[in-house]
Amino acid sequence: MGLGIAALPLTFVAHVLAVVASVLVVVWVVNFRGGLSFDSPNKSLIFNIHPVLMLIGFIVHGGEAIISYKALPLKKEVKKLIHLVFHAIATIAGIVGIYAAFKYHNESGIANLYSLHSWFGIGVLFLYAHQWLYGFVVFFYPGGSEAIRRGSFPWHSLFGLLVFVLAIGTASLGFLEKLTFLENAGLDKYGSEAILVNVTAIVTVLFGVFVVFSAIADAPPPPPATDDYQPI
Ligand code: HEM
Repeated sequence: MGLGIAALPLTFVAHVLAVVASVLVVVWVVNFRGGLSFDSPNKSLIFNIHPVLMLIGFIVHGGEAIISYKALPLKKEVKKLIHLVFHAIATIAGIVGIYAAFKYHNESGIANLYSLHSWFGIGVLFLYAHQWLYGFVVFFYPGGSEAIRRGSFPWHSLFGLLVFVLAIGTASLGFLEKLTFLENAGLDKYGSEAILVNVTAIVTVLFGVFVVFSAIADAPPPPPATDDYQPI
């Protein structure tokens, strides 16, 4: 599908939104929630690793993986490598980020996997890891046949975009859930922290919107062929 507009300017907007969302989530956990730690008697600091890694590590790197493949005016082989490295970083950050949420629950005597957010979260990470493995084996190493790659590519793109949109929805549920817990514990519903958390979630959703726009906009023309060009 093509939107009739170039992908590159849309990706600039996505980059700016990624930076803003990343700064906001760090300001939130550091200035309002006491900071981050993997090991602390204050168990909330262990939880704080979760939103930071899920947003900056998982969502931002996942989005950048998608738009870099679409919009960089580089050879396909180079773009593939950038795409899979960004997705690998996102997957590892997602695993560590979810581990932090489990660690926080286990050390605080809180049940695991009771919420809609956590169910979506586990599902998204499972689908994401499978999508990465399939992409690696079929498109990178050892690589499927020409027919398999050609047939898989539209499904890989569509499925990847769907999983990314699900991840954005899951993060929104996470922000909503945490803010609801805090408000039920007495946090001012119209105070600066509540506004900051909601704005962070809105910027995250806007980042997702511009990643999707970029993915369905028009790719730049491929660079001119050189002697070592491989037409795959
Ligand atoms: C796509 C990104 C995210 C994924 C895949 C994800 C996944 C998960 C998972 C699997 C759990 C369950 C841990 C357990 O049961 O021990 C969890 C817990 C939690 N997450 Fe996230 N999360 C994401 C982003 C966020 C964000 C941005 C926030 C914002 C604060 C957040 C807030 C929470 C909260 C409050 C919990 C504990 C309560 C619960 O289990 O629902 N999450 N998350």
